[in-house]
Amino acid sequence: MPPYVRLHIRLLPHTSHNFETQICEAIASEISGGNLPQGSRLPPVRVLAHQLGISKNTVQFAYDELAARGLVVPKNRQGVFVSETFMTARSEEKPKVQVPAPSLIPRPMPNSKMHSQDTILLSNVFVDPDLLPNEQLNECFRSVLKSTGLPSFYDTQGFYPLREWIAERLSQRGISATAEEVIITTGSQQALDIACRALQHKHIATENPAYHIGKILFEMNQMQLVGLPIHPFKGLDLSLWEKRLAQARPSLLYLTPNFQNPTGYSYSSQELRKIAEMAERYQFGILEDDWGADMLSFSEYRPSLRALCGDNVLYLNSFTKKLLPSLRVGYLVGNRQMVPSLVAAKRVATLGHPSLIEEALFEFLSRGYYDTHLQKLQTALDRRYHHCLQILEQVMPDEVAWTTPGGSPILWLELPPSIDLPSLIATMQSQRINITDTRSSFFGTPHLHGIKIGFAYNKEGALEHALQTLANTLKQELAR
Ligand SMILES: Cc1ncc(COP(=O)(O)O)c(C=O)c1O
Repeated sequence: MPPYVRLHIRLLPHTSHNFETQICEAIASEISGGNLPQGSRLPPVRVLAHQLGISKNTVQFAYDELAARGLVVPKNRQGVFVSETFMTARSEEKPKVQVPAPSLIPRPMPNSKMHSQDTILLSNVFVDPDLLPNEQLNECFRSVLKSTGLPSFYDTQGFYPLREWIAERLSQRGISATAEEVIITTGSQQALDIACRALQHKHIATENPAYHIGKILFEMNQMQLVGLPIHPFKGLDLSLWEKRLAQARPSLLYLTPNFQNPTGYSYSSQELRKIAEMAERYQFGILEDDWGADMLSFSEYRPSLRALCGDNVLYLNSFTKKLLPSLRVGYLVGNRQMVPSLVAAKRVATLGHPSLIEEALFEFLSRGYYDTHLQKLQTALDRRYHHCLQILEQVMPDEVAWTTPGGSPILWLELPPSIDLPSLIATMQSQRINITDTRSSFFGTPHLHGIKIGFAYNKEGALEHALQTLANTLKQELAR
């Protein structure tokens, strides 16, 4: 066993950084400054603890953190060593930063700048913030801060009582889950990300068109991808799906069975059963994205693949649409075999999600505010949904068709083939109505020709104005 290096670390008791952080930062800066060569053995935990006059746990936490950053590697019974790969990357060859291709750069998020410009975001998938329980959430944050103060540490997998609440809630819907299987994530987007990272065979099948930023995530991770066509008016051609799945043999199928984004399509129970059979036959796992659950009346009763096929299905969902976008809390439900690697993938990505947010959210949920909020939200969204259908009926030319999803924040508007999408989008933009171009959600040539309408985000007056303007523009185009 090689001798360990001697470290000079000066701990400062009266700073905002605790001792773990100070030790971690001191060693990290020795490594990045080139003072600790690759393969150097760090002092054993008990030795450094003794030297510094602190507990072994504190040193162990610091070493864990360094390992999570990839700076050191613990080797069984031999000690903790400065990572070789890290040094190689630094000292031999500067890694080139890969600039993503323009097609891999997601469209900008709606933000306060766009609001101040008074633009109507017609395709926005969020819920109007005025319908969200901002004040109650504030109260829960204040209550947590008052009773326990800022949490000083975090659980990488997520605040346990919050995980228990989620597991209990899902079980009531027939979706098997325990707190040990739930991983709290930064929005459900991170659930997708860690599922990608943890996947050994980087080969995914998904819907065509797909959830746009999910598709970009897979492409950026250089996943091998296969698109399975989805048609919001005709349903799924499952024999074609089967042919593609049999040929491609992906390791994971990513689906949004309820209110698919961007088409708003919901799978029938029969379709879900057939997909479950295919998963058995071709031995792939399923990643089920239930983003639209709880959003309109009755949506909690939609069938779920996890309920149907058990824990071969990884299930993800999020509070960002239903409670507050900025909370960024989502979750992933795994199975006992996969949870350790999913948690490890989350750890290397972010170490953890802010505990204060998790604790305040738990406070909100355990006070029973969620169900009261959902009831009000669902009533308001039901009204917006029906209003949207009514306006479409009144103003759209006969050649336009739309889906009736009965839930989620969006529906799909299919346009006549003669309409040029980019010029329609530009014309609408010139009238301060922003429409998302969905063409990049498709694999290959799009088999649909339409746009998303976000009826949950836009207030009734704004939606009416935008749809009327859209209808007028379409009529003018069709008359040419
Ligand atoms: C289908 C779908 N899944 C996942 C996400 C990610 O959402 P979030 O990270 O806000 O939970 C979105 C966002 O719009 C989505 O549309």
